[in-house]
This record gives sequence, structure tokens and C-alpha cells, in this order.
Amino acid sequence: MRESGNTILITGGASGIGLAFAERFLEAGNQIIICGRRADKLEEAKAKFPALHTRVCDVGNEHDRVELCDLLLREFPNLNVLVNNAGIQQWVNVQRTEEEWAHFHQEIAINFDAPIHLTLRLLPHLLKQPHAAIINVSSGLALAPATWAPIYSATKAALHSFTQSLRLQLEGTKVDVIEILPPAVNTDLGGPGLHTFGAPLNEFADGVFASLRRGEIEIGYGDSERRLHASREDLAEAARQMWLGFRKRNPEF
Ligand SMILES: NC(=O)c1ccc[n+]([C@@H]2O[C@H](COP(=O)([O-])OP(=O)(O)OC[C@H]3O[C@@H](n4cnc5c(N)ncnc54)[C@H](OP(=O)(O)O)[C@@H]3O)[C@@H](O)[C@H]2O)c1
Repeated sequence: MRESGNTILITGGASGIGLAFAERFLEAGNQIIICGRRADKLEEAKAKFPALHTRVCDVGNEHDRVELCDLLLREFPNLNVLVNNAGIQQWVNVQRTEEEWAHFHQEIAINFDAPIHLTLRLLPHLLKQPHAAIINVSSGLALAPATWAPIYSATKAALHSFTQSLRLQLEGTKVDVIEILPPAVNTDLGGPGLHTFGAPLNEFADGVFASLRRGEIEIGYGDSERRLHASREDLAEAARQMWLGFRKRNPEF
């Protein structure tokens, strides 16, 4: 992927990993559009980085996604990079579920429907650009699930698989397909305070950008980098150890 001169959509770019990426892409000389559900978060981001373009959009909603794509093609005809970053994480005890299906489905809609729909909708445009890229932000949990977040982990495994197919289908085109698999990173994912044990956000984002500059296409960091090279046995053991540790820390789960 080219380092500068791109026009980039980052979903969920108003905070956390998306905003850290937006900051670095801006510094490198790119035009950035971010979207998210909360207008106040988008405004905060724009106050910090006035060059950002912002758009309120719930990528879990099909209608919003179509509107977003129409707006992008109309107002940003040079759009050449899609960063599918928006995501949510929910804890689900499968033996105790009282919520309606919509509660569970939103995680699938945001984490999995959205990246696929945005990819399919924008791909005809991206294929016409001289250089383009699709960057999917999955998770180290795509490789070894967090048992307490079973739907989340499954959406990330599914996105990992989709990304592999997309890369092979687009081989020989101008569209690079890149996957970023973060480990636990200190953001508000799942709710404020739940990921404070994770890697510092700026260190993680700097590490990812160094990998992007080296032209890597499957980018892990720390634990998730190790998982990319682990055996199936090691991954199964990692999942078991994470689950045992979680249950010790959360006996009421
Ligand atoms: N932090 C970690 O430990 C970690 C580890 C592995 C993978 N990841 C992945 O990294 C990505 C970014 O997460 P993060 O850690 O930066 O979490 P975060 O701090 O909670 O940020 C998520 C961002 O996504 C936006 N978003 C959520 N649902 C959305 C929707 N329906 N439509 C549009 N925007 C939406 C949020 O804004 P609004 O709420 O205003 O919409 C927020 O700006 C996610 O895909 C996550 O799964 C994170």
C-alpha cells in the first residue's frame, strides 16, 4: 500500500485504534474520513485533528452503509482505501441468555456484516483506482477464541477467513488486502476499563505502522504476532488458559 496520497475511510475512527490509525495516516499525508455512531465523539476527534472528515453512520445498519458508500463515491471520488475497523465486544454466557436476538445480532452485524458489505459495495470503485487497499481489523482472538466473548471471537475468525479469500481473489489486481490482528490493546472496547491490561495504544499503533511500511499483509503485535506462527495445539492451549484465567477473575460470570 502507498504511504501517502491516499483517500481513506476508517470505520469507527473517532476513538481507540481507529483514531490512532487516523492520526498516523494524516501525518503521512493522506485524506481521512472517519465514521461512527456518536456525533460528539466525531466532533471531539475533529477538534483534535481538524483535517479529518467525519460522518455519523451506524455500520451495523444496512441502510446507513449504503448511504455512506453513496456519499463517499459522490464527495470523495479518489477514495482508494477502506479500513474496516469498527467493532464491539460483548460477554455472553451461553447458559444464561435472556436478551432478544437483536442484542446478539448487533455484534455480528457490526463486526462481520459491515466489513463484507462495505467491501462488496466499494470494490468496483477501488478496482478502478491506480492503487487501492482494503485493511480489515480482526483480532488475535480470530486464532484462539476468548470463550467469554464467543460471538465476538467467531466474527473475528470469520473476518480472518473472508480476508484470506478476498486476498486470493484479488491477486493480480491493484487492490492490496491487509489484515491487522490486534492483541489486547488499552482502549474502551467492551466498555471503559475492560482493556486496561492491554498494550498501550500508541505503542501498538506505531508497531502496526512499521509493519505496514515494510509491506506486511498479515500484521500481529505481541501475543497476536506469536499466535500467527503458533501450532493448532498451542492455539487450543492458549484458548483454554485464557478461559481458566477469566473464570478465576470473574467467578460470577
Ligand atoms: N482493543 C482491543 O483489545 C482489540 C483487540 C483486538 C481487536 N480489536 C478490534 O479493533 C477494532 C477497534 O476497536 P477499539 O479497541 O479501538 O475499540 P473502541 O475504543 O471501543 O473503538 C471502537 C470504535 O468503533 C466505533 N463503532 C462501534 N460500533 C459502530 C457502529 N455500529 N458503526 C460505526 N462505528 C462503530 C465506536 O464509535 P461509536 O460507539 O460512536 O459508534 C468507536 O469509535 C475493533 O474491530 C476491535 O474488535 C480491538
